[in-house]
Amino acid sequence: MSDRLILGQTLTFAGDPAAVGLGAAQHEANGAVLIRAGHIAQIGPARALRAAYPDAAITDHGEGLILPGFVDAHAHYPQTAIIASWGKRLIDWLNTYTFPEEARFADPAYAALIAARYLDLLLSNGTTTVASYCTIHPQSVDAFFSEAQARGMRVLAGKTCMDRDTAPAFLRDTAQSAYDDSRALLSRWHGVDRLSYIITPRFSPTSTPAQLSALGALWAEHPDCLMQTHLSEQTDEIAWVQSLYPQARDYLDTYEAHGLLGPNGLYGHAIHLEAREIDRLAEVGAALVHCPTSNSFIGSGLFDMGLRDRLRVGLATDTGGGSSFSMLRTMAAAYEIAQLRGTALHPAELLWLATGGSAKSLRLETKIGRLAPGYEADLVVLDLASTSAIAQASARADDIWQAIFPTIMMGDDRAIAQVYVAGHARKP
Ligand code: GUN
Ligand code: ZN
Repeated sequence: MSDRLILGQTLTFAGDPAAVGLGAAQHEANGAVLIRAGHIAQIGPARALRAAYPDAAITDHGEGLILPGFVDAHAHYPQTAIIASWGKRLIDWLNTYTFPEEARFADPAYAALIAARYLDLLLSNGTTTVASYCTIHPQSVDAFFSEAQARGMRVLAGKTCMDRDTAPAFLRDTAQSAYDDSRALLSRWHGVDRLSYIITPRFSPTSTPAQLSALGALWAEHPDCLMQTHLSEQTDEIAWVQSLYPQARDYLDTYEAHGLLGPNGLYGHAIHLEAREIDRLAEVGAALVHCPTSNSFIGSGLFDMGLRDRLRVGLATDTGGGSSFSMLRTMAAAYEIAQLRGTALHPAELLWLATGGSAKSLRLETKIGRLAPGYEADLVVLDLASTSAIAQASARADDIWQAIFPTIMMGDDRAIAQVYVAGHARKP
């Protein structure tokens, strides 16, 4: 079996720095990662690993910073082409831009084209895992998984389900077809190579109670699967949910009443939560996903990072409601939103959110999101001086945190020196 040593600076996290402090992070200025059979076999000082493995092939990234590949916990790959569409808030944005574009995914060739474009954009931005919504069309799921499989990527995805007349007729399934199609896709793809199926009701307003119940039943039959949906993103949306589900105690109750609340539930946005909803989410051990560029771009609100004390929280682009494919830009937006709420997130917390934290929200914390022996070798190598503006700022740094913060705040795909997927260099 051929060994490869990747040399550079390394930064490893034993756990969440927000919970256990900065002692959770270890920086090695002259570090090495030993890759064997697609996994991390060892990590340590370059000199020690070179001596121990003299026959290993060597890739030297110099002062490049080796991190786990970024993990994007919530995105919509079919919205790739409508990213940065001007001037609308959530409901108008869905009707004006999103739904007409998603209708195009009835065509498998178009779905394959966008899936390939999207996954290459992810890799060029250092993202190696994503949890993506597809469209109502089963072929949009097949296209996405096929393209991810061809790239060897670990991804999660599901058919987006919508059967209510609040969604346009050209983009509706039924309660029964959503159940049948989701079940068939789950058995075709879940656990194949590095692919996982996620049961995906879009959100309560575009599903009938019958469809939510059908998907709740499917989840009960496959409790190891994740279930992803949206929750309390905008106040207009919450009022809409109230009018469509007059019996519900609150937005979360529309999911709970239909079997869609559980420890493997992944709730995107979750900005305007009631105290009861937070208590219930914490009680069942659900995960929330913070989508900061989307929350400012569509004007949704400021997510409360304090929720990390009680719930698992992942970080995500929410492409194309989010305005970027880059998890660097997404970390910057998370920093800015926390500042608006009076908290400065440490670079260690931001990096953890984009790697181990997101992996934990996806229940993948034993496979990806850390540089540690036994983990899958999905890595990103950052150039901490990728533009003249970043280089002059990082040159003044006294420690690794000051050195990396300008890249977090100002970096883009030029900062991605290389990306490794299961040990293979894959920068497009
Ligand atoms: N809520 C329901 N669907 C969507 C979507 O596609 N994007 C965002 N940001 N919110 C949603
Ligand atoms: Zn979303």
